[in-house]
Formats: sequence, structure tokens, C-alpha cells
Amino acid sequence: MNNSAKLELDGRIYELPLVVGTEGERAVDISQLRQQSGWITLDEGYGNTGSCRSNITFIDGEKGILRYRGVPIEELAEASTFIETAFLIIYGQLPTQRELRRFSELLTRSENIHEDMKYHFEGFPSNAHPMAILSSMINAASCFYPELMRGYDPATFEAQAARLISQVRTIAAFAYRKSRGMPIIYPKPSFKYTANFLHMMFSDPYEDYDLKPEVVRALDLIFLLHADHEQNCSTATVRFIASSQANLFASAAAGVCALWGPLHGGANQAVIEMLDHIRSTGDDGSRFIQEVKDKKSGKRLMGFGHRVYKHYDPRAKIIKRKCDELLNALKVEDPLLDIAKRLEETALRDPYFVERRLYPNVDFYSGIIMRAIGIPVEMFTVVFAIGRMPGWIANYREISMGSASRIYRPRQIYTGSNQRPYVPISERGSDGGSASRGTGQPAQPAR
Ligand code: ACO
Repeated sequence: MNNSAKLELDGRIYELPLVVGTEGERAVDISQLRQQSGWITLDEGYGNTGSCRSNITFIDGEKGILRYRGVPIEELAEASTFIETAFLIIYGQLPTQRELRRFSELLTRSENIHEDMKYHFEGFPSNAHPMAILSSMINAASCFYPELMRGYDPATFEAQAARLISQVRTIAAFAYRKSRGMPIIYPKPSFKYTANFLHMMFSDPYEDYDLKPEVVRALDLIFLLHADHEQNCSTATVRFIASSQANLFASAAAGVCALWGPLHGGANQAVIEMLDHIRSTGDDGSRFIQEVKDKKSGKRLMGFGHRVYKHYDPRAKIIKRKCDELLNALKVEDPLLDIAKRLEETALRDPYFVERRLYPNVDFYSGIIMRAIGIPVEMFTVVFAIGRMPGWIANYREISMGSASRIYRPRQIYTGSNQRPYVPISERGSDGGSASRGTGQPAQPAR
């Protein structure tokens, strides 16, 4: 294979180095292109742009492969736990028994948020979305740890990372309790990570929640399957913020905001709302599929499609199986599961979805598991955020440790007005405001 590509621009040939990843992924390195030629590349939505080199997660979207630090997701789902996987993602190796014990102890020691932080919860309206509370509170938490203000510091990173993983779950549970007007339940040091989250969500001061092992395992699996997913919208956001040397908590809070959108992590909530809508209108799903195919409807089959996977999302396969298992074990019959399965079958046979290679993604069945556990729909994306925390932390660490890291600062192709003079307000005419005068689009075609 050649080790460079040739690009001809303005009659001059530029040699662009080729980069090959450890799994054979290929890229043309254009990092010197603008400096050498004055040209930039344009890739709206970044579908063809590698923004970094990373050792953390590998995805082959054509084959439906996902590996954390080289370990297949199927093996981790079968044999690992969320916390062991979190260690693997952040530190690059599966922990020894001693390392895992130490990591777990650190998480336990960090599980309580600063007592003064509880007052912040009082400031939110009772109907606030828990994702808004989560992002605000993660950011607010940085006020309580002055060492964070120094940015990335290898000496304190381990403690900060543990604090973030542990406390995101405490904050999430407190946010939920606050939104329901229920008293806060403190974490119990004797409980493991996921059991403790369920305890803080569902126990009462006078009665502990009945922790069913199959429920704990199902939720732990959901966390594990969400733990990282290379350069998705929220992780790329975390890297973006980290590249300016903002602190870990600020970067993670931004990740939560990016995750919230319905095209990203918010899709798990949107899936259940969609299934509920289909059920309430007496549709068996076929009418909805027709609507989705009509672009004018503006509707999408939520939980379907993925920027990278052009094959069944491997996480969706695992979750679908777990969904059947858990509902059987709990003897829960959820009509939404039947609708989801019918929708999937119909979509996978329909040329619209087949031609566009749209398959169920991780969000399609995860909400049904969470419903069966009793997690309210507005908390679904929060559960995703708890799961994604190790991935964000690992990416934060990777960019902060990288000696070659530069601040993320893309370019753009400007398509606005050419230079024009400032017009005094008295000379701008009287009819209509700026809103009716347009959107700042060029008065003449861009040259
Ligand atoms: N329903 C209907 N049509 C879809 C869907 C869908 N869910 N997803 C993509 N398409 C269509 C698009 O309309 C487009 O059609 P066109 O070529 O005729 O214009 C084509 O498939 C390609 O879609 P894009 O939007 O270009 O794909 P992109 O990679 O930008 O978007 C995304 C990926 C956002 C995930 C998209 O598939 C989507 O909106 N899915 C629904 C929301 C969802 O489930 N998000 C969760 C993603 S996984 C995660 O974040 C954890």
C-alpha cells in the first residue's frame, strides 16, 4: 500500500500521509493541508472525519463489532460487571483482584455527595427534567473539589474519576427522589454499585427496597453496554471541552447535555413515548412505519439507525435477549414489547429500512427493561449517562495525557453576507423587524 495520497489543487500536487489503525482502519491525514495549500476539508456532521487517535474502543459498524480495549462486548456482557468494565475502559487493562477491590473501595468512599450540595436540589422546580438536574449538579460538584481547578492532574485523577463515577449515581437518585417529592435515601456502603443505585432510587426511610438479583444484573448490564462507544456526540463533546483543559467534572457535565438530545441518548425515552403513542392510537405499528417513510411527517423510527452501525447493533442483540429473560423472570407482560418486536420485524422487511441499512440500536429495547424494573421514563437517559461515565472519563484522560493534544478548533466555510456597512437605525426603514427581514442569509450568492 502507498504511504501517501495525492491531492491536486490549483494545479499543485499535495502528498497527504496515510494513517492505518491497529484494526486496519484507514485515514488520509490532512492535518497540514491548510498550512500547505490554504484549503480546508468540509465534512458536515463529521461522518468522514477522524477527530483523534484513540486506544479505547473499537467499532466495526459494517460487521457489528464492538470491543472495549480489545475485549468483545459479548464477552464482557457475559462475564464482567459494570465496575470491572469501567476499570478496563479507564485504565486500559482488566483489573487484578487487588486492583478491583481497591477501585470498589474508592467508589464506596466517594459515594456521598458533599452535604451542602443537597441544598442545590431545592432550587429546581419539582417538574425539572432529571437530565437538567444531573448536568447542573455534576458541574456544581466541581465547586466542592478545589483540586479540580488545576485541570488534569495524574496525582488526583484516580480519586476524581472514582468520585465522578460514584457520585453521578447518587446525584441521579437524589434528582429522581426530589422530582417525586420523596425523602433522599443515602447510599449504603455494603451494597455494590448497581444495587446501591436501586436502593437510593426505590428504598423508603422505613423499608428497604427488595433487591432482586435478576433486576440488579439487568441494570448492571445496561450500564456495562453503555459504558463507551468511541466518538459519539457526547464523547466527542467531552473531548472538545477537555481539549481546552477544562476540568473533568465540567467536561462530563457537557457530555450529559449532549447526551440528552433525542437523536442521541434521549432516544431511549423517545422510543417508549413512540411505542406508547402507537398503542394509544390503536395502531399495530404499520401505520406508524408508513408515516416514518413519508419524509414530510418529520417522524423517525426511534431506536433505529446509527451513524456507524450499518448492521445490527451488537448491544441491541444482547439487550433484546436480556429483555425477554427479565420480563419472563419477573412475570411482567408489557404490551410495548410486543409492539416493539412487531415494529422491528416490519422494518427489517421494508425496503425503506433495508436500503438505508437501518437496524435497531441500543435504545430500542433498553427502555422496556427499565420500565420492567420500575425506572420512570424521564430517568432513562440519566441511566444512560451513568453508564457512559467511564467512557467519558477514559476519553478525558486520553486527551489530557496526550502530549500532542491541541485545543479542538474546527474551521468553517463562511456562507454569510459579504462586507456591508453598518446602517444607522434611523435609516433602516420602518416596516418589519429583523426577524421578518430574513435570517442573515447572503444578499447575493456567495462567491
Ligand atoms: N427512522 C427513519 N428514517 C431514518 C432513521 C430512522 N430512525 N434513521 C435514519 N433514517 C433515514 C434518514 O432519513 C436518511 O434518509 P435519506 O437518505 O432518504 O435522507 C437516511 O436514513 C440516513 O440517515 P441520516 O440521518 O443521514 O443518518 P445519521 O447517521 O445522520 O443519523 C441517527 C443517525 C441520528 C442515529 C438516525 O439514524 C436517527 O435519527 N435515529 C433515530 C434516533 C435514535 O435512535 N438515536 C439513537 C442513536 S444510538 C445512540 O445515540 C446511543
